[in-house]
Amino acid sequence: MLKVARTVAEVRAFRRELAKQGKTLALVPTMGFLHEGHLSLFREAARHADVVGASLFVNPTQFGPNEDLASYPRDEKGDFAKMEKEGVSIVFAPAPEEVYPDGEETRVEVTGITQGLCGKTRPGHFRGVTTVVMKLFHIFQPDAAVFGEKDYQQLMVIRRMVKDMFMDIRIIGAPLVREADGLALSSRNSYLSAEDRENALGLSMALKAVREAVQAGTKDVKALHDIGSAVLAGHHLKEDYLEIVDAESLRPVEVIGARPVRALAAAYCGKVRLIDNMGV
Ligand code: PAF
Repeated sequence: MLKVARTVAEVRAFRRELAKQGKTLALVPTMGFLHEGHLSLFREAARHADVVGASLFVNPTQFGPNEDLASYPRDEKGDFAKMEKEGVSIVFAPAPEEVYPDGEETRVEVTGITQGLCGKTRPGHFRGVTTVVMKLFHIFQPDAAVFGEKDYQQLMVIRRMVKDMFMDIRIIGAPLVREADGLALSSRNSYLSAEDRENALGLSMALKAVREAVQAGTKDVKALHDIGSAVLAGHHLKEDYLEIVDAESLRPVEVIGARPVRALAAAYCGKVRLIDNMGV
């Protein structure tokens, strides 16, 4: 039976009880409107601990002033039903005042790795993410936490925070889940009109084109960028960025060499900003 906790105190009491029983906990932080991608995170979490906990919180501090905080899709009842079905034991679904009772004076910020890619277009976004994730880690005290590779930069930022702060939490990255035609699952896909949905496919196709070009021997990153860019333009997608970066540091690479690299892209499909990434 899923326990719905609205307060920090309820989660703490649950966690203390687990500790008494000698049980481990894996946390899956979410903003809700769950899709198959989220469900795969719960299943992954269950492989790493005795008990799976989740959070359902549309975190206001990670949205910029002109972003979609107010219209972000929500379906709390449906989300609870899905969590229950997946065997999640506790969900923390607080009001914003529970998480930020005294405003946002204390912030957690990872520099460097947050500056490029999504960090360029969404200043302050990752600070909001690391602030809320740090709070969730302190509230839940999980042994492990699972994040999707869909938000690849976010995953790397959190890994960096946990490493730099000597936090004893295993961060597990779970593979991105796609629709049959290749579109990466995202709660924001629900904003897409039928026509936009067709065009949105261009994002994964652009990354695939980059990957195929790498496999065919193209090593020059500028040439690879142009290949991906042309696919985006062909699908009426407005490129925010398409970059080939070191898979760990996320620093741009100029020539494909021995180290693993990843192609990350963000593009506007109409007014909707979508992101995707692929190992190349
Ligand atoms: O990936 C998300 O849904 C959010 O950024 C997270 C990690 C739940 C923090 O609000």
